[in-house]
Amino acid sequence: MKKLKIVVGVDNPILRKKSVEVKQFDVGLKKFGREMKDVMADAKGLGLAAPQVGQNIRMILVTLGYQTDREQVVTMVNPRIVKESAERECAEEGCLSLPGQYQKVERASGVQVEFFDLDGGRMVLDLDGLDARVVQHEIDHLEGVLFVDRVEEKRVEKDLGEISS
Ligand code: CO
Repeated sequence: MKKLKIVVGVDNPILRKKSVEVKQFDVGLKKFGREMKDVMADAKGLGLAAPQVGQNIRMILVTLGYQTDREQVVTMVNPRIVKESAERECAEEGCLSLPGQYQKVERASGVQVEFFDLDGGRMVLDLDGLDARVVQHEIDHLEGVLFVDRVEEKRVEKDLGEISS
């Protein structure tokens, strides 16, 4: 069986493309979901987005409740942030597509995410802390956004501040 490979590189066109909605919840999608889960486990990732294994479709896997007794991997198809908290927090992130890079990223501390499971059932979850962070990071991948893009925005502001002071 051909194994999926993780796409890497900050300028990789696959990682920079906006992904398309999933329309068919079929056997092929379930198989792809299982393959993504294996890749994520092998790479010891907390999350994985379909473009990271070369498919520009709107599907992500996220580990929720990491290192707690409710830890589980959830597959989200066509995920969408419907609400986010005004409160934001900063924490270090990494990405399987950018090996060796870790930087602090500011994100909403809580989000409500709507998605579909592999059978096409609609789900809504309220998440906070690391769960909220992982979901925001993975949904960014579907828009062609990498976490380092969010770090740079901050750095520009900081640099300007230093020049004017
Ligand atoms: Co990533």
